[in-house]
Amino acid sequence: MGREFPLIPRRVAQVSTTHRRIVTPIPVPESIPRLERLRRHEPASMGGQPPVIWHEGDGFTIRDPYGNQWIDFSAGVLVASMGYGHPRVVEAMRQQLATGLYHTYCFANQARIELVETIAALAPPPLEKVFLLSTGSEATECAMKLAFTYAIRNGHRGKTHFVTFENAFHGRTLGAQLAGGTPALKDWIPGSHPEFVQVPFPDGFRTPDTSFEVFERSLAKLGVAADSVCGVMTETYQGCNAQMFPVEYAQRLRQWCDRHQALLIFDEIQAAFGRTGTMFGFQHLGVSPDLITCGKGISGGMPLSAVVGRREVMDLYGPGQMTSTHTANPICCAATLANLRALADEDAVGNAARLGPILAQACASMRGAANGRIGQAASIGLVAALQFVVPGTTTPDHDTAWEVVRKCAESGVMLFAPVGVGGGAIKINPPLIISREALLEGLDVVADAVREFCTS
Ligand SMILES: Cc1ncc(COP(=O)(O)O)c(C=O)c1O
Repeated sequence: MGREFPLIPRRVAQVSTTHRRIVTPIPVPESIPRLERLRRHEPASMGGQPPVIWHEGDGFTIRDPYGNQWIDFSAGVLVASMGYGHPRVVEAMRQQLATGLYHTYCFANQARIELVETIAALAPPPLEKVFLLSTGSEATECAMKLAFTYAIRNGHRGKTHFVTFENAFHGRTLGAQLAGGTPALKDWIPGSHPEFVQVPFPDGFRTPDTSFEVFERSLAKLGVAADSVCGVMTETYQGCNAQMFPVEYAQRLRQWCDRHQALLIFDEIQAAFGRTGTMFGFQHLGVSPDLITCGKGISGGMPLSAVVGRREVMDLYGPGQMTSTHTANPICCAATLANLRALADEDAVGNAARLGPILAQACASMRGAANGRIGQAASIGLVAALQFVVPGTTTPDHDTAWEVVRKCAESGVMLFAPVGVGGGAIKINPPLIISREALLEGLDVVADAVREFCTS
């Protein structure tokens, strides 16, 4: 379990720059009774983030009600790609609300019509059909269902295995956790589920050998015949470590899937819509998946996710057979449409590509200055992860990662709590519209915190 941030105010240095302002102890003494109300009425699992009450958002900054302001390096959790309070998103939601329709079930609404057209136009062939859902986990479940169904409908009843990767994260529902690659997250699931298998993720750190041979060797070791696999799913970059899937591995995996009639699925819930500096993360890899799952940054904030895929796979279920109560909610669709249009018009993807090298360079410097306590610093576009470890090992060091997050929050840079293997990684993923100058300012704050806690 991650470490909770104590509700005890700490005197911290006052900060006043164009983008950051810290004028109170953190957590703010007046906020504590309010935060305690949450702790009283919510499950403990909802704790764990720095104890700040988010009150207002504006572009890449967030403010509490007490005069403090942060540069946001979290984008919520890689969601607010166009930042907070984007006027086009706000206006789109306002206009949709004015129609009185904030729910339409599967009845058509105009925002949905334009949204599926827009997503289909953005996705390269053969991805041409779009199924809208609400959460990333739902999209994961749907993609897996389609993979199993595709095998059955094509007469391959022996294709009972679904392959994913160690340390992968695909969501918290039952199927998504079975596909996940962290054993501790699924130790609550009774029974064995040999149909879900994980192979090492080629991250070049905990799995130094990034060659495709590891995939085939691992399946063989697990006793999984290639022809029994209905689908292979991977994050385009692994969320817990920001490590991209290697190009050659991806290309050989595509060939392998073709040879064995398995669907190749990219979980693009973090990567899609610009995070990696291309519209979709898999565009770095030179392969075409059969399905992708999208969520998070697609909408910029409203709960909307999507499965996008090949026509023959997406049409496996007939009318009324693959739906969801909140599919294509009109306010979520209107917000998402406005978000995607703003993303294109403001070249947010280009901004992520242009700022990516700055983020990468800063993370490499932090690793260099960390006395071996950052084992890996991976980054692509505007997402990076610093893996804190016990020096000389790959053993995660949650405590140091946690201190860095705390110190950043106290200094006006918002990061979410450490994630990944043993809670040892901090992620840096600001809104895609962050300015160069604010990115540099925030990175200096993180670097100072790293120096402070990695002195020896
Ligand atoms: C790569 C990836 N897939 C799936 C999910 C699940 O998305 P959600 O939390 O919206 O269900 C997440 C969430 O963090 C994710 O990062």
